[in-house]
Amino acid sequence: MSALCLLAPAKINLSLRIHRRRADGFHELSTRMVPLELADEVRMEVLPGAARGEVRMTCSDESLPCGEGNLAVMAVRALEKVVGLLPGLGLHVEKRIPHGAGLGGGSSDAAAVLRGVRELCGCAVDEAALSGLAAGIGSDVPFFLDGGVCDATGRGELLAPVVGEFPRLRVLLVKLAFGVPTPWAYQQWRTAAKIGGLVYKPQMLDWGTLVNDLERPVFTKYPVLGHLKGRLMALSGVAGALMSGSGSTVFAVMEVGADAAVEAAVEAAVRDEVGEEVWLCWTHTVSRTVGAGAAG
Ligand code: C5P
Repeated sequence: MSALCLLAPAKINLSLRIHRRRADGFHELSTRMVPLELADEVRMEVLPGAARGEVRMTCSDESLPCGEGNLAVMAVRALEKVVGLLPGLGLHVEKRIPHGAGLGGGSSDAAAVLRGVRELCGCAVDEAALSGLAAGIGSDVPFFLDGGVCDATGRGELLAPVVGEFPRLRVLLVKLAFGVPTPWAYQQWRTAAKIGGLVYKPQMLDWGTLVNDLERPVFTKYPVLGHLKGRLMALSGVAGALMSGSGSTVFAVMEVGADAAVEAAVEAAVRDEVGEEVWLCWTHTVSRTVGAGAAG
């Protein structure tokens, strides 16, 4: 096999509770992460003419840097630390998950590269070692390596898979034109105050609880996200709404049976609240990621 194409799903955090800042600067947290049908596509190939250790990366989103700082390239370098220089590789990411969105796109691409390049190059790296490499790249990369609904603790890398089928929930993702830098959101967590009139309290639903401690700092700087959340929560057909991760995506989970007319009304309300310059995406949660496929 000389080429491989894997899907790299997005995620949402249904809950994210922060407990304390650790000595290493990370924050101890508990979070439930759920994969989505929305996914990037990551193509990997061995380049016959290229030198060992060479990585040529391209991306459909030309605003994304494709150099050594890209998490997908970092995943190749992490494997090379264990197995030595790999054959010259081509990586292409067809980007469908917006970045700076709290949807884990970059981390998911990195997990797909870890899995895909290990297979493509026959790297002798077992699952435990791969998971260790994933945690070194980013706190939520191990989650994407696992591929199922997980409760995560530590800085997000310690996973407890949620057993049993998780309901297939209809989800609307809403991302405004700006992204939120994750380190900044965590830095502000301890000191940021709540803004009056915005909803932060847990929403208890049949399938779990929606709550996110990073809403406090992020809504303080971007109240528009808090107002959008409140508007979504009040709409007919919406079971609950929350910011995902460190934002800036706010998502709505629909009630079972909400039809196309209800969804159209929700979309219209979102555009009325935040304007036309917004990225909207209807998707579903999945219990476990499938769809990893060989491209030949
Ligand atoms: O691990 P990751 O690279 O995704 O984290 C990005 C940044 O977010 C970290 O450098 C840190 O500032 C912050 N972070 C944190 N606590 C976590 C996860 C991330 O403070 N549990």
